[in-house]
Amino acid sequence: MNLKTMRAGKYRSNGGFFGDCIEWLDARLPLSAFWRKHFSEYLVPKNLNFWYFFGSIALVVLLMQIVTGIFLAMSYQPDATPNADGIPVAFASVEYIMRDVNWGWLIRTTHSTGASAFFFVVYLHIFRCMLYGSYRKPRELLWIVGVVIFYALMAEAFTGYVLPWGQMSFWAAQVITDLASAFPFFGTALADWVRGDFSVGGATLGRFFALHVVALPLALILLVVLHLVALREVGSNNPDGFEAQKRVNVEGTLLDGVSFHPYYTVKEVFALSVFLLVFFSLVFFAPEGGGYFLETENFLPADPLKTPEYIKPLWYFTPFYSMLRAMTRPLLGVDAKLLGVLAMNGAVGVLVFLPWLDRAPVRSIRHRGPVFKVMLSLFVASFLTLGFLGAKPPEYVLWGAIPGAPIARAATFFYYFYFLAMPWWSKIDLCAQETQAA
Ligand code: HEM
Repeated sequence: MNLKTMRAGKYRSNGGFFGDCIEWLDARLPLSAFWRKHFSEYLVPKNLNFWYFFGSIALVVLLMQIVTGIFLAMSYQPDATPNADGIPVAFASVEYIMRDVNWGWLIRTTHSTGASAFFFVVYLHIFRCMLYGSYRKPRELLWIVGVVIFYALMAEAFTGYVLPWGQMSFWAAQVITDLASAFPFFGTALADWVRGDFSVGGATLGRFFALHVVALPLALILLVVLHLVALREVGSNNPDGFEAQKRVNVEGTLLDGVSFHPYYTVKEVFALSVFLLVFFSLVFFAPEGGGYFLETENFLPADPLKTPEYIKPLWYFTPFYSMLRAMTRPLLGVDAKLLGVLAMNGAVGVLVFLPWLDRAPVRSIRHRGPVFKVMLSLFVASFLTLGFLGAKPPEYVLWGAIPGAPIARAATFFYYFYFLAMPWWSKIDLCAQETQAA
């Protein structure tokens, strides 16, 4: 479609078969109007940088997970009972996919590596929002929908991890479902209700399968659509943090905008190619990612009578797992286990309030003062430390001298301090106030 025919309204074919098909379709579906509205005439700030690629990469990864997931579901069996060889049917069906299904190994490793890639991309996407203050007015709802997407993504990854019914699948499900029992009064009943039994078993596998392949993907798709609709309403922020949507000429056109197509589509295609190159290099040459994408312990079938030496989640959950383990003593009458559960869940929940916690007069790191830069660097350091310690046993000692447990506690404290003290420290950031005055 060239710009001339597009501008004229409906698409007009030059006589070729392909053109005729598009003309036929366009007369019955508002295709060219959609293309104009969302791509060729959609104006975005012209100063977007590489941080803005991760949203569309996340979209592609979501699609990839759905497609590979559909093919996996054709051969996977959510059945925990042992087969003739004494191996759980679910575990054996994954082995079957890897060995006997045509291209099964590629579909499975693309899906398992895709889970790690999804979190990697979404973590960078969230970090970009923190760098440029993208969560602030008028993008609060866009941000909140993002936080809900993150919760749904965590639930999707956790339920998926249980499906191969390996040792770590089983024991991780045991540890995590047992957390529900930390709540007073109804805790035990809640844990039994979540598992569908008194301990993790066939009933748990069945419901996790239903959630993983139907309910959560549907919720994710719906939430992502909401996210994009909200984005279109308020428009993209940008690395300088100024409100590009307000700088318009008399015709209402953005002064600092360029059309999404071709100026950004060409960049997005390049970024996506680089991403896919790295991603498929990992899929082909390091599908287990040294135990970070697929854990060694999970190549053994689930055995309820044999607890692994230590139970740990995959890398993307380790910062939150660290917070759970960091709570070892009761506080103000609240039991340590419940404190851990609250700390772990609250770590994501607190993000919802970020638009109102941040009181700086400017949005972007480019115009903020040293306090923000120091606080954000310490925040990243504490998050990475928590992630590192969460992948180690609880008795881990850093450099053979510093016990990991108090470090994890201090990092958890700082994580919360960053957010809860933000109304204070974001206000005293001198440079930011100077920028406002200027
Ligand atoms: C499945 C996961 C997600 C998908 C597919 C997705 C998709 C997108 C896309 C395509 C954009 C526009 C391009 C860009 O700015 O990068 C965007 C922007 C945005 N997203 Fe997401 N997103 C996801 C998760 C999240 C999460 C978890 C959060 C926050 C917790 C979030 C917060 C935002 C915000 C605030 C913007 C506007 C950024 C700006 O204009 O500077 N998103 N998202």
